[in-house]
Amino acid sequence: MCERMCGVILIGMRTTHANRDNGGPAVQIAERGTPAVQKAEQGTPAVQTAGLTKHFGHRAAVEDVSLTVPRGTAYGFLGHNGAGKTTLIRMLLGLTRASAGRATVLGLPVPAQRAQALARVGAIVEEPSFYPHLTGRENLMVAAAMRGPEARTRIDQVLHRVGLEHRAGDRVGTYSLGMRQRLGVARCLLSDPELLILDEPMNGLDPGGMLDMRRMIRTLVEEEGRTVFISSHLLDEVEKTCDVAAIIDGGRVIAQGPIDELVADGAGELVIECEDLERATALLAGDPEVRELRREHGALRMRLTAPDYAGEINARLVMAGVAVTRLEPVRHSLEERFLEMTTRLEVAA
Ligand SMILES: Nc1ncnc2c1ncn2[C@@H]1O[C@H](COP(=O)(O)OP(=O)(O)O)[C@@H](O)[C@H]1O
Ligand SMILES: [Mg+2]
Repeated sequence: MCERMCGVILIGMRTTHANRDNGGPAVQIAERGTPAVQKAEQGTPAVQTAGLTKHFGHRAAVEDVSLTVPRGTAYGFLGHNGAGKTTLIRMLLGLTRASAGRATVLGLPVPAQRAQALARVGAIVEEPSFYPHLTGRENLMVAAAMRGPEARTRIDQVLHRVGLEHRAGDRVGTYSLGMRQRLGVARCLLSDPELLILDEPMNGLDPGGMLDMRRMIRTLVEEEGRTVFISSHLLDEVEKTCDVAAIIDGGRVIAQGPIDELVADGAGELVIECEDLERATALLAGDPEVRELRREHGALRMRLTAPDYAGEINARLVMAGVAVTRLEPVRHSLEERFLEMTTRLEVAA
């Protein structure tokens, strides 16, 4: 346990923006998003990697990964178990050395300037560990003692932030996994980090625990201006929680970008409900912009060569006297896209 706890405690010892940058007084978490701070931080991504690779013997756990994690976003790092997520995170945190490639965290190269970079990062790699016989607050006091006097002044604030203020006096041994995960985030927040790296924070949580975690991550990003990097194999949760994502499969990143774009990429599909399906089918059947026209559940489904052609189709049907009752682009879930992409790779292999 000590090794795990020490690992977590080491990551996240930091001073605030104010006293790091200009020797001024401590800033509170809520001041994070001030224009001056944002201006100073513009330009460098929260995390950037180029050709990052890690071999264990002959096997590549991470292969040629180039990621850009924009600041102020919730970033999802998606992949099945064994895809290489934890290995990449361990390289970012300097816990294991890359076989090849480069990485920067908050603009600083790791591992060369690991200590400086990690002073501004809070991380949980796999499940956080606590002293079960101590209360939540006491555990935070132990952690704060190693981080400096400011951390101690933040204990109430971070307990409130993760919604544990009413259970802070209970022993951690009585906490649910979701509460321990949130206490882990609270411990990260003691050092007011700009970037949080959470390895599978939703793992093992019940739906209520996931919702709490999701809301908390959104608040950290939207109201406090932090960047939150989460790894997960739970695609649905990443789709609901994150702004941007990368999909990793067999150590390689196979897609990355804003969630909306990742989802839209494979789409271009349209569903139409109308009064006269026969007539509509006849009208659209020969159209070169319409592919894979078929009937499904009392509606017409098709793939369009250009998504903005949907309006034109609507106009054509209406002008031909076919009343359209529903016309909707199909939004693939990220899960479908993920399965689609990984399956395609398997077929190609
Ligand atoms: N210390 C290690 N020694 C050998 N192989 C490892 C080690 N750590 C991870 N691996 C292998 O690297 C691959 C990626 O593992 P990991 O990064 O833990 O995946 P994930 O976190 O996505 O589940 C797996 O095949 C795993 O068995
Ligand atoms: Mg893992």
